Amino acid sequence: MEALRKELETLQAEALELVKKSVDAAQLEKVRVSFLGRKARLTAILRQLPTVPPEERPVVGQLANTVKRAIEEGIEARRAALGSIPSDEILRKDQIDVTLPGRRPSLGRLHPLTQIIREICGVFVEMGFAVMEGPEVEWDYYNFEALNIPEDHPARDMWDTFWIDPASARTSTPMLLRTHTSPMQIRIMEQTRPPVRVVVPGKCYRYEAVDASHESQFDQVEGLAVDEQITFADLKGTLHTFARRLFGKDRKTRFRCDYFPFVEPGVDMSIDCFLCKGTGCRLCKDTGWLEILGAGMVHPNVLARVGYDPARYTGFAFGLGPARVAMLKYGIEDIRFFHGNDLRFLRQFP
Ligand code: PHE
Repeated sequence: MEALRKELETLQAEALELVKKSVDAAQLEKVRVSFLGRKARLTAILRQLPTVPPEERPVVGQLANTVKRAIEEGIEARRAALGSIPSDEILRKDQIDVTLPGRRPSLGRLHPLTQIIREICGVFVEMGFAVMEGPEVEWDYYNFEALNIPEDHPARDMWDTFWIDPASARTSTPMLLRTHTSPMQIRIMEQTRPPVRVVVPGKCYRYEAVDASHESQFDQVEGLAVDEQITFADLKGTLHTFARRLFGKDRKTRFRCDYFPFVEPGVDMSIDCFLCKGTGCRLCKDTGWLEILGAGMVHPNVLARVGYDPARYTGFAFGLGPARVAMLKYGIEDIRFFHGNDLRFLRQFP
């Protein structure tokens, strides 16, 4: 009897030790089978019960049951605890090499046109200009009329215009997609008094065939400065500074007469070709010069129309195409690349 009791106690201690050491459900099941199963040691001990003297049987029987329950409870508790711990196998499969370098997330970036527009505006902001924006659907009045381009004037042919269907515009006054950012000159002057110093980036539209240097939707940056005693020298100095900031400090600029109805005199500005330094190459079509913008002194008619006294105030205006600036600056050969949505192109402008 004493020997049997000892054996049972050892059995319990051994079983619980193994339960404690089990690391997954499979091991735990093995322990259960070997201690409690049909061929298990506890079962074997219970089978010896008939050889125990009758008066001792209840005591031994009870002890055996206590041991059995203790092992069962031990297994149950361990199983519950293991439930939240993944098995060795799962851990092996899930292994990660923490020394591997991380995968770089693919970040977006600003479109090259956005970058160049910000760079252009930034140069003028440093010279004291404010930045404003205006509507792309515009009245005929702002796009043409107030800019000294009356109806039926042949100068309108300079801008091939997308007109808004009067029925859908529900107005008898003609509307259009602005062909340039110049209408903002009028809107701004209507709302403020001199001094005016402002640049206006924005989308423009022209009814034109698309080719390597023309698109029917494009950007412009307009500039306007009006004050007392502004002269053509201010125009030249400002635009010369701009050209050097964008294309290098050795740039030369050249101004030639050009015609825009809302300026007098009107000019276009070229910079000496930075590729061949003026000797002539493919980029400048062997002229040595690259034309980059139109400009001029604000026409007195335009000033008068917005209620500025042309005898007191003068000003200059300019308009340029950021796409052309970017094409020249980065040697881009086709304007259609900008909206081609090709990452090989876009990734070159980090
Ligand atoms: N608006 C003109 C164009 O688009 C450019 C320009 C602007 C010229 C301002 C002179 C002054 O052709």
